[in-house]
Amino acid sequence: MDVTVELHQWIRAAARLVILSGAGMSAESGVPTFRDAQTGLWANFRPEELATPEAFRARPAFVWDWYEERRARMRDVAPHAGHLAIADFQRRHPGRLTVVTQNVDGLHQRAGSPDVLALHGQIAQDTWLDPPRPCCEAAPPVPGRPPACGVCGNLRRPAVVWFGEMLPARELAQAERAARDCDLMLVVGTSGVVYPAAGLARATRGRVVVINPHESDLDDAADLVVRGTAAAVLPKVLADA
Ligand code: APR
Repeated sequence: MDVTVELHQWIRAAARLVILSGAGMSAESGVPTFRDAQTGLWANFRPEELATPEAFRARPAFVWDWYEERRARMRDVAPHAGHLAIADFQRRHPGRLTVVTQNVDGLHQRAGSPDVLALHGQIAQDTWLDPPRPCCEAAPPVPGRPPACGVCGNLRRPAVVWFGEMLPARELAQAERAARDCDLMLVVGTSGVVYPAAGLARATRGRVVVINPHESDLDDAADLVVRGTAAAVLPKVLADA
């Protein structure tokens, strides 16, 4: 049997579904992955050297500029047929499918998926570097520099999870609960090497289906592996389900 026919049947039969997505989910929207994005001024730096609290404290303007460039690139992209198929399924079946994503690009949200659990934050948003004090009100932005509190100097930073930082506790707890309790988890476009996100696929009682054109570290946890891309496979298996 065609594996997508089998998957379609599993989706129809599942009362509770989870989609766990990674960078490959956004590839067909044209979002450069974290590691491909190193060009120009930043070509000599590894993301692990820029995406840390220590790097931002040492060179705030430099790291801020790197994020501004990534934000500008992400503004020009749009959700693809796979994102739209997920959101459409959620509209037809309220409360039945939870999206858990490692992506910071906001494409699931822009496609219309409700209550996305963004485990690694959202690049379009900012937050305070240090816990805000009563004086903290961002000064008007200066190009090329993070906005800062004019009184205490606290800086604004991108609201993403940096290397060495904890995942947002509420989102992680909700994702763990959804993963544990679901009947079917679709693992889409993730290499499965970054934890704790990858661990969600190993902690579920339900079936696990990997959708990825290449081998991944979660193939061994899968009941079914579909070798295809997110934009090709998801509309096919979610339509009429
Ligand atoms: N459709 C589905 N999967 C795809 C596609 C596609 N069109 N194109 C590529 N892939 C797969 C690749 O085969 C690979 O397995 O997407 C995966 C991307 O893997 P990574 O780049 O490692 O992305 P991800 O798993 O999301 O990384 C996890 O690491 O860099 C940090 O915080 C960052 O959230 C990120 C985390």
